[in-house]
Amino acid sequence: MKKIILTGDRPTGRLHLGHFVGSLRRRVELQNSGEFERIYIMIADAQALTDNADNPEKVRQNIIEVALDYLSVGLDPTKSTLFIQSQVPELCELAFYYMNLVTVQRLQRNPTVKAEIQLRGFSESAVEGDTQQKQGIPVGFFTYPISQASDITAFKATTVPTGDDQEPMVEQAREIVHKFNTVYGETLVMPEILLPDNAACQRLPGTDGKAKMSKSLGNCIYLSDTADEVKKKVMGMYTDPDHLRVEDPGKIEGNTVFTYLDAFCTPEHFLRYLPEYASLDELKAHYRRGGLGDVKVKKFLIAILNETLDPIRERRKYYEGRIGEVYEILRRGSETARKAASQTLEEVRAAMKIDYFADAALIESQAKAYALKNAR
Ligand code: TRP
Repeated sequence: MKKIILTGDRPTGRLHLGHFVGSLRRRVELQNSGEFERIYIMIADAQALTDNADNPEKVRQNIIEVALDYLSVGLDPTKSTLFIQSQVPELCELAFYYMNLVTVQRLQRNPTVKAEIQLRGFSESAVEGDTQQKQGIPVGFFTYPISQASDITAFKATTVPTGDDQEPMVEQAREIVHKFNTVYGETLVMPEILLPDNAACQRLPGTDGKAKMSKSLGNCIYLSDTADEVKKKVMGMYTDPDHLRVEDPGKIEGNTVFTYLDAFCTPEHFLRYLPEYASLDELKAHYRRGGLGDVKVKKFLIAILNETLDPIRERRKYYEGRIGEVYEILRRGSETARKAASQTLEEVRAAMKIDYFADAALIESQAKAYALKNAR
């Protein structure tokens, strides 16, 4: 069977290292593996608007940021279709039909939606007319897992490479596919999630050691940060608070610098920057024993991050000088995506029997029935 990828990001800010190890790096590998017949990478502006309805300018301005980040990590518009969600209106129609296959109760159980309701400060008890402090849950936001099922199924995606926070979304999409195919006949393709392979990559903590790198927490290292900014952020990074003197034994668990090394470091990095150690395990063992200072480990991480980011910065600079071209890439990608989505929509309409004008048999049989009745 031919394999197809669909994945994407909300344009609410520049992309950071969490996005990079959680998904972007993998996408580029998959793109270059030649294993996939088509790869669709979507800027999810319509989804971003589900909880930014009052801030369309933020979404609008960040489309180019995300597009620049995509191109700079090595997504190649000749191999992958880069497009903007709102420019494919077929996705809305699909979502409208899928809404009949999902219950309110099922959506209320979605753990990602639950967490986001908390995070956004939406209140389940708010009623219309409540003031700023008590804002109800927008229907569009509440139902975005259904819209995400449209994104995935419209392109017949077999594979959704993404972070583990998106697991409930892919699960929801799978349930919709199953239900649709059961009710209307085999039509939609069953998608599968493809998660990052190590725990550090699945959920990269912020530089402050907090659970997740997130713009609102101000603990991000951005792909577009300069070498100096990266250096500053790593030097200020959370480590083991009890590791006060170099001689003290240190803890690896919850030590952000080591978590980042788990996500980024390869044996070649040791050869280049820290040849006195053979591997990350050796470095960790020394830190645990005592006698290894934070600064030395941080300097190693800075070298690795900047080596990783340098080619990304270079490509970003190239495209920053060609903004018009980037929009042209997105325009063409959106056209290609629209063609694919409307093909699926046609199949969906046929399966649901809402293709009246294309159904000559329907018109003929009804005409015959009425002719018979009126002949009596
Ligand atoms: N929900 C994803 C995010 O917040 C963005 C997204 C929208 C997506 N549609 C998708 C991801 C379909 C994977 C597949 O980043």
